Amino acid sequence: MISYIGRFHPLFVHLPIGFIAFWLFLEFIAIFRKSDYSNVKSLLILLSALSSIAASVLGYFLSLKTGEYDANILDEHKWQGIWLSVILTIIYFLYTFLKDKKYFNYGYYPSLIVVFILLNVTGHHGGSLTHGSDYLAFSQIKDGEKEAKIEIKDINQAVVFTDLVQPIFKQKCISCHNTEKMKGELLMDTYEHLMKGGESGAVIIATNSAQSELIKLINLEPIEERAMPPKGKVPLTNDEKAVLTWWIHAGATKDKKVAELNPNAAMTMILAKFAGSGNSAHSESIPELPEVSEADVKSVEEIKVKGINIVKIAQNTNMLDVRCIINKQNWNDQKTETLLKIKEQLYILDLSGTVITNKSLASIGKLKSLQTLFLQSTQLNDDNFEALKELENLESLNLYNTQITDKSVETLSQLKKLKKLYVWQTKMTEKGIEQLQKNLPALQIVGEKKYINS
Ligand code: HEC
Repeated sequence: MISYIGRFHPLFVHLPIGFIAFWLFLEFIAIFRKSDYSNVKSLLILLSALSSIAASVLGYFLSLKTGEYDANILDEHKWQGIWLSVILTIIYFLYTFLKDKKYFNYGYYPSLIVVFILLNVTGHHGGSLTHGSDYLAFSQIKDGEKEAKIEIKDINQAVVFTDLVQPIFKQKCISCHNTEKMKGELLMDTYEHLMKGGESGAVIIATNSAQSELIKLINLEPIEERAMPPKGKVPLTNDEKAVLTWWIHAGATKDKKVAELNPNAAMTMILAKFAGSGNSAHSESIPELPEVSEADVKSVEEIKVKGINIVKIAQNTNMLDVRCIINKQNWNDQKTETLLKIKEQLYILDLSGTVITNKSLASIGKLKSLQTLFLQSTQLNDDNFEALKELENLESLNLYNTQITDKSVETLSQLKKLKKLYVWQTKMTEKGIEQLQKNLPALQIVGEKKYINS
């Protein structure tokens, strides 16, 4: 209850500010126009003092809810508010009893200057508490953008925490989890603070992403109350979530580089997007998307219950990102066939690690809108692989850890838009890869020798 009353402090503080400003204003006018306003002077000073005391009390209640504000600024603000109230009260009594004395004005006018300065300082600190200390700074760059732009030249040499994880936090979390606004008592500015956790203890449990509070909260639907970042803020992209999850899973290290944490093929693919101009990775740039009507809601629901995640790849498009993430052992060829119902919208498909066989290729070959396809760690071999040659929009294909051989080089060579292909730990030979590279010179092939063409 008390901290609830305290919430009216930010509203209530405008009363003393108003009274004091009005009083000083009249005093100022009085000096120049030699006019007299003594009939309301006493009342104005009284109101200034009383409202200031009330605002201080409310402010004190609010401050009891610890953790929300920067402790140093809060302490200064508190004492400034108290001093202002004390000084106003003294001025009121001195005015009441001594105003007719000759020497009164010698003390009175200097005290007005003190009140004026103290009012401004207190107000400024109060503003810093609610809006952050750079609220009035000229630069309009918000916290997130300031240092988030890190150029990553070689993703393998990037330090996972400083080059990938921290920029995400800086862009999307630090505005509320900094030294001035410690929401949930969680500071996210340094590695040490982050690992220390918040009001409910550690939020990161190294190697156990599933048990880590931070991962739980970023995976909540944005409408849920505890979701991070909260509703209305720019949410994390799937790639950003994947990076954070992977980093924790791999031990939440401070200094380790990407290569030292052995990302698997799927993760390598995601990490690759963070390389280069740095910034594009975080906004997950999506090239011109085909304009299609919305997928049939009933079909989407029907397919979802078979055990696959379906989400729109972005807010302003109908294209879909479809991934089989849990119960991969239950996803088989019949289920793949059902995906044809959303073939126009299917843009990203992840069937990695499922139990599909080459029969699925017939259906997958008809998903002509596909841009990204993950088929790694499945039983697939060359049989019927030519069905995929129809995927004229495919830009990225992952065949890591499958039984594909050089026989499929011909089919792959027909995927003219293909930009990236992952074929390590397949049966494809160096010769086959060379041939493919000759046919598609712009293709980046990730084989046993990484980035042959980069
Ligand atoms: C708009 C402000 C805001 C932003 C942005 C924000 N948070 Fe929070 N966060 C909060 C508030 C408020 C709480 C406290 C919620 C509560 O106590 O229920 C909190 C609490 C948390 C907690 C729980 C701390 C604890 O120990 O209970 C975690 C973890 C967290 N945030 C992570 C994040 C991450 C990760 C991001 C960025 C992706 C983020 N937050 C962005 C406001 C924010």
